[in-house]
Parts: sequence; C-alpha cells; structure tokens
Amino acid sequence: MMNPATPTSTARSSAGSGRPAVRPPAGAERLLAGVGPQGAAVGLVEHLDRWGSVPTWRGTTFLDELDASGLRGHGGAWFPVGTKWRSVRKAGLRSPVVVANGAEGEPASGKDRVLVQQLPHLVLDGAVLAAATVGAGRVYVHVPSGAVPAVSRAIEERRRAGLDPCDIEVVVAPDRFLAGQETAAVATIIGRKPATPTFVGLKPIREQGVGGRPTLVQNVESLAHAALIGRFGAEWFRRVGTPQSPGTVLLTVTGRWAEPRIVEAPLGVPLGEILQLGLGDARSFQGVLLGGYGGGWVTPHDALAMPLTEEAAREYGSSLGAGVVALLPTNVCPLSEVSRVVTYLEGEGAGQCGPCVNGLAVLANAVGQLAYRPNALRGGVAAIPTLCGLVEGRGACRHPDGVARFVRTALRVYGDHAALHLQRGPCHTSAPPFLPIPATAPRQGAR
Ligand SMILES: Cc1cc2nc3c(=O)[nH]c(=O)nc-3n(C[C@H](O)[C@H](O)[C@H](O)COP(=O)(O)O)c2cc1C
Ligand code: SF4
Repeated sequence: MMNPATPTSTARSSAGSGRPAVRPPAGAERLLAGVGPQGAAVGLVEHLDRWGSVPTWRGTTFLDELDASGLRGHGGAWFPVGTKWRSVRKAGLRSPVVVANGAEGEPASGKDRVLVQQLPHLVLDGAVLAAATVGAGRVYVHVPSGAVPAVSRAIEERRRAGLDPCDIEVVVAPDRFLAGQETAAVATIIGRKPATPTFVGLKPIREQGVGGRPTLVQNVESLAHAALIGRFGAEWFRRVGTPQSPGTVLLTVTGRWAEPRIVEAPLGVPLGEILQLGLGDARSFQGVLLGGYGGGWVTPHDALAMPLTEEAAREYGSSLGAGVVALLPTNVCPLSEVSRVVTYLEGEGAGQCGPCVNGLAVLANAVGQLAYRPNALRGGVAAIPTLCGLVEGRGACRHPDGVARFVRTALRVYGDHAALHLQRGPCHTSAPPFLPIPATAPRQGAR
C-alpha cells in the first residue's frame, strides 16, 4: 500500500520543518514512547521534535493504509477503524463531523486520561487526520473536565501555529458511566440530554449524528494509533501484534498496588507475560476482570495464559473492552465486589428502556441478596442468569448487555464462592472495597 505521500518506516525528515529525521519506535512501547517526564503534557514543539508532522495523504489513500494496518477501535467494541471511516466518508455529502471520544466513563480505566492529558497532540493529530480523510470541517474533543486545560492549551498552540485546516472544539464529558457511549456523546455535544443514549430512528450516527450530520465517533486511543500509522505506515504498525490483531493496546492494570498502572502491550502475547506473572502467582488473586464493567471475569489461570486479543477474550465470554485488567485480591469477597458494581451500573442506566427501568434493578437486587443475604435469594443462584436473559439484547444501547456479561462471567468464575454463601451465609471481611466506584455516582454501589 504505497503512494507518493506514504511515509516509509525508515527514518525520514519532518516535511519542510527542517527538523531531524524521525525514527518510528522499534519496540512495543509506541504511544507511551512519547510521554514526557513526570507525566507533564507534551507541548507542540516537543511533540513535533519527537514524532515529526503527519504527512498529507491524498484522496482515499489513507483509508487503504488504515485497512492494511488492521487497526481496530479501542473504545470497547474493537470495530475496524478503516471500515468506519469509509462509511462516514461515503455518507459525507452533508459535511461530516469527527468526535474524539475521551470520555472514559469506565471507572476502572485510566488510559484515555493519560493520552488526553499527557499526549494531547497525538490525539489531535489523529482527529485532524480523520477529519481530512472523511471530509469533516469540525472536530469535537469530548473529555472529562480534568482534561480540558491540557486539551485547550494544545488546541491553542496548534491554532497559533496554523497547523490544522479544521475547527477544533472541546466539549466536557459528564462524569457518568454512559458519557462515552456514542449516541450519549452526541447528545452531550448538541446539549440535548448529556450522557444519555438517544435513538436516532433507524439511522446510525455514522449517517446522522451531531446536527443531523454524518458523525465519526472514535476513541482517543484509536486516533492516537491512527496518528502514528499516518506517519509510519501500515507495515510498521503490523511489526508487533499478530496478523489478526496487529499493533499494541493500552491497558489499565489494577492490583494490590496503590495506583492503577497504564501499560502498553503488543496484542497477542500472553497476559501473564506482560504482567511478568507466572501461573504460580495466580494463587495471589482470585479472578481477573477484563475489559472493565462492560467486560467480564476470567479465572487467574485462564487470564495469565490467554493471548491478549479480543477474540481470545470473547472465547471466555469476556472482552478486552477498554483495556481494563483488574486482578482481584484474595482478601475481598468477590460477590460483594460484583454486587457493588452492579448496583452502581443500575444507577447509571438512562431510564429510557424496559431493561434499564425494571430489569437492572431486579438483577442488582438478586446479586445483592447472593452477596449479603443469601437466604433471601429465591430460586438460588440459577435465578440470576435467568434475570440476565431478560435484559440481554433488549435495550436501545448495549448497557444492559454489558451488565449481564459482567454478572454471568462472575457466576462462572466465582460459582464455588456463591455455593459457599448459600451454605454458610455471607463473608465477613474487613478488607476495603477493591473495584472503584465514582464518588459522584447517584447510587454508589453500597450495600
Ligand atoms: C455503555 C457504553 C459505554 C461506553 N463508553 C465509552 C467511553 O467511555 N469511551 C469510548 O471511547 N467509547 C465508549 N463506548 C463505545 C462507544 O459507543 C463507541 O463505540 C466508541 O467510542 C467508538 O470508538 P472506537 O471505534 O475507536 O472504539 C461505550 C459504549 C457503551 C455501550
Ligand atoms: S438500554 Fe438503558 S442505557 Fe441504553 S438507551 Fe436504554 S435506558 Fe438508556
């Protein structure tokens, strides 16, 4: 896939800048290779010194390069990026818009905040490249309030440098679980009902989103990868990862240590290898939550041996989702952790569809009974998958499906623990809760 503007993966000079040649990162650390000291935001001059500028791609040539790269979305669904950009471009007679989605409503994830706060120019490069490719004149950068200063400063630097041919605007994402769902992001941008998924008739937002225009909503990590593909090409992107799952992924790894760690890893390698854990270490935690609260649980043994790909995660009924890897310590009750999260997720539903209005409350109540009052659970543990079945596939968005997957996989991984609750009653542990629940949530998942 070469064209006159295609950057090769050898060192090259930044077009017309007089800067020295830029070498693509050789190892598995790519996005994070650009992070500055002490996590300060990287300014424009430093950014261009590190990466050079993005060359101009003519017509649809970058779409071919994206397809060749095999890049998929990192916001949760792992949808091919090139396919999405093509469909927005096709619908683009009415001037499309691009949304760089950095809402990161998932409480256990922190990788998008690192990108927008520390590497805002890499994300903006990807968003502007997307706008140029699909024919959009406007980019919205949808980020939590804490990231607004860094992103606004970066936009201002670019404006002064006359870098971008399109308008870029920051929009504050509310601190809600659903804020980053794509129709909810559109609702926030147009000021309708922030962080609430909406129904736009039969048309996807790719055809009819912000202001009725075709709208490309792309996760900020996906855009940052696209910005590097724009510089170094598909062949370079495929040098790590597997043929089916090329490139790298940002993971937010939470365990016994104080703060979550943001790690960049090649797709396809065993998770245990990345975390430098062997199967013997699996005794020190009792389960792994992959993907976040819309993802699912796997046993320590399976997680450590599993190749880090979305397909492998799906085989275990889970998902890589937004890249969350939470190692649940052995000193907490897994069922009370699951109950806290399900109560939180139930409170985060937008209250528009049956499964959210009725189903999730009943499900949260049943999981709470299993965790804290097992004698009150009518029908035993088997009642819970039945309740999951009643909400799955019935919402206008995938929120209820994510909750059901979280619960179903928990019952599979912690089935023995559930049986113990029914025999002996709930656990009495003094360990502090493990999985994070935002303090601002209306229902914080307490008992
Ligand atoms: C309940 C729910 C929450 C979501 N939250 C986010 C989010 O916080 N950030 C995000 O990028 N995508 C989120 N998504 C996925 C978006 O709808 C959308 O698919 C994504 O932003 C597209 O970008 P990608 O193709 O690069 O992954 C969420 C989806 C659902 C169903
Ligand atoms: S399923 Fe729930 S979160 Fe999704 S649109 Fe319906 S009410 Fe809102």
